[in-house]
Amino acid sequence: MGKIYVDKEKCIGCCACEATCPEGFKMVDGKAEVKSQKAKCAKEAADACPTQAISLK
Ligand code: F3S
Repeated sequence: MGKIYVDKEKCIGCCACEATCPEGFKMVDGKAEVKSQKAKCAKEAADACPTQAISLK
């Protein structure tokens, strides 16, 4: 697994990433932030995001 990144310009704060993968993401001021680079559910969270704000490099 490479680096997890949240594009805050694209994030609309829908919380799907946190709901899908709470070990990997947390909401801060209405936007998602990466909580753990080691979260195994990051792919699921990226797929769940409606604006493709999450990238896995
Ligand atoms: Fe934002 Fe997408 Fe998560 S819109 S809150 S990064 S599911």
